[in-house]
Amino acid sequence: MKCWCPIRLSRVPRPGAARRSGNVPYALSREFQLDAKAFVTCLEAHPKAKVAVINHPSNPTGGGASLEELRAVAWACRQRGILLISDEVYRDLYFETRPPSLRDAGSYGVVLGSMSKGWAAPGLRVGWAVGDPQWLTPARTVHAFAVTAASAPCQRAALALLEASDQVLPQGRREISIRWEALASAWQEHFGEVLTPPAGAFYHWISLPEAARQDPMAFCLKLRDEAKVVLVPGTAFGEAGCAYARLSFRGTPRAGPRGCPSHGVLLEEVMTPLWPSVTKNAEHWPNPMRPLSSPIEVEWRRPATGPCARPCQIGFGSPMR
Ligand SMILES: Cc1ncc(COP(=O)(O)O)c(C=O)c1O
Repeated sequence: MKCWCPIRLSRVPRPGAARRSGNVPYALSREFQLDAKAFVTCLEAHPKAKVAVINHPSNPTGGGASLEELRAVAWACRQRGILLISDEVYRDLYFETRPPSLRDAGSYGVVLGSMSKGWAAPGLRVGWAVGDPQWLTPARTVHAFAVTAASAPCQRAALALLEASDQVLPQGRREISIRWEALASAWQEHFGEVLTPPAGAFYHWISLPEAARQDPMAFCLKLRDEAKVVLVPGTAFGEAGCAYARLSFRGTPRAGPRGCPSHGVLLEEVMTPLWPSVTKNAEHWPNPMRPLSSPIEVEWRRPATGPCARPCQIGFGSPMR
């Protein structure tokens, strides 16, 4: 039997938090796709693992997971009795074909969804978990003691949006496609590179120029301070992100450069002139926030014992009426 319940969302730790919370990251393919082989290698290296989290389409890379890889990952977790959590909050925001769900690969594991992305209603704080009650029933109990439930008005608003999915979801996809087209054509024009659309979501995982890789945070701060454009340094998502920054193209393409910049403006006035300068003058853009060698301090509170000491915080609210 499947169990479906609305949840008041607290955060599933980002990849960046993984190592700090005692979890271990696993490698993706070169195209940032789920790679079952690398995933299983990681499981084998950590025989005490109890929970594995996959996220597809992914924040921050936009990478996805094929049905074949999902099957292999689910099988590997089932064999070892590991709870597999599949974070699929971006699955309805795709560009070409709808990415497969872990549910398409079988009944094993728990799938997470949210009103925040496809339905563009993050303020509702409503999401859901689908899976076997053996996992979800105890999680509901933990949640009841740890997090407030989703409010009734928010659940009603979520229900109204869910019932209007046939209109809301295609509209959301149209909107992000417009933004993707604007970004991809401006990128090609200014950098001469043809971008491949992500599997879903609204992120472009930018490969940084060599010099910016020494300190992606400093590069992003320079962009922020001089150009009023905010990119998230790849290091915010883990050490492996040091060669990247995340660009979100969710903002409106029509707004001016000081709001959400149009992608043409972003590239023409901001990034194109800055790119060559960062590749040459790394020493001229020191990071005002921290010396190069010191680690980034991230607050991460986790009780040492008890059920909440588990690495993932997943919340379950009262059933929707
Ligand atoms: C991969 C991923 N999972 C889950 C969430 C949680 O979203 P929310 O709490 O808004 O539903 C986010 C939000 O950015 C996300 O990027």
